[in-house]
Amino acid sequence: MPETSAIIDIDLLRAEALGALGKLNASDAAAVEHWRVEFLGRKGRLTAALRGLATLPPDQRRDAGAAANALKELLESRLAEKQAQSAASRASAAGGVDVTLPGRRLRQGRYHPSTQIIREICRAFNEMGFQTVEGPEVEWERYNFDLLNIPRDHPARDRWDTVWVDQRRPEGAEVEVGQRMLLRTHTSPMQGRVMEKVQPPVRVVVPGKCYRVEATDATHEWQFHQVEGLAVDEGITFADLKGTLYEFARRIFGAERKVRFRCDYFPFVEPGVEMSIDCFACSGKGCPICKQSGWIEVMGAGMVHPKVLAGVGYDAEKYTGFAFGMGPERIAMLRHGIEDIRHFFANDLRFLSQF
Ligand code: FA5
Repeated sequence: MPETSAIIDIDLLRAEALGALGKLNASDAAAVEHWRVEFLGRKGRLTAALRGLATLPPDQRRDAGAAANALKELLESRLAEKQAQSAASRASAAGGVDVTLPGRRLRQGRYHPSTQIIREICRAFNEMGFQTVEGPEVEWERYNFDLLNIPRDHPARDRWDTVWVDQRRPEGAEVEVGQRMLLRTHTSPMQGRVMEKVQPPVRVVVPGKCYRVEATDATHEWQFHQVEGLAVDEGITFADLKGTLYEFARRIFGAERKVRFRCDYFPFVEPGVEMSIDCFACSGKGCPICKQSGWIEVMGAGMVHPKVLAGVGYDAEKYTGFAFGMGPERIAMLRHGIEDIRHFFANDLRFLSQF
């Protein structure tokens, strides 16, 4: 009789299915899968029994249906337990690692865009014989200003709005009484630190963080990087400065970019210049990026002032040199068309992961 056999089939099926599952070795994943197909698969025995319910008279169909669905739930939950045991036994066989699980995708890390461009800039100079050195971010005013021919009452100090740290002199510090500490406003203090330590020839590049009291905007941050350069030797001329910086521009911006030097004033160089390149975006025609000028300033530079050389004990009659200082974030902005410098330090992965 079909109506009773459907119910009996379900009871039998329960006994058979649970009996068969109980005998399975959990580490035998293929056998567990075979069991699943036999009882719960699309053409499996329980599915066939569920289909058979349609042939029952309506008054029996409800009870038989409930029993069949309860069996389905039971078999599914026992299967899940067996599969969990199966995964655990595979994992323990592989020393705690389930080698059959799909691997987790690892996020690839990368250098911050500032680090990338700083490395590129330093590499360009390293290949021209400059050595990379680094120095302190918390600095004495002696190095940040005094040795750079910017005494305390010099109006040029206003150009670098300074974060002062402490007025006191730390115990044992080899600096005159009255010296104040600050967060360096540029990487130029390393000029004095390097020259105090070594005799010419000097050829160094100095990457590092700088701090200024700035109202931030699209091109100004209160914390940013600079890369300083210094070369001192006998017979260095302005032609060496131009030649080195032309070569740098060729390496970083490409041979097709034009380079322009114009007079600028920094107390620690004489003469002082600003170096610009013709605008990437408009090739010098004028656009919003270059403020319609066709040129983009990339750094300050000049011949090291004789007072700076004399200040560190160099013979200013014998030695000459050039120095430069650039903002790598500004260079990366030009490279990648980044419209706001504040993106660099906002820690937004949507920005950072593009580089
Ligand atoms: C200086 O700081 C000089 N020490 C550079 C120098 C070194 C001149 C050696 C001569 C010889 P300036 O303040 O212009 O100069 O800054 C140099 C570069 O740092 C700028 O061209 C710019 O790229 C970057 N810079 C300056 N201020 C900021 C700021 N607030 N945010 C981001 N970048 C800045």
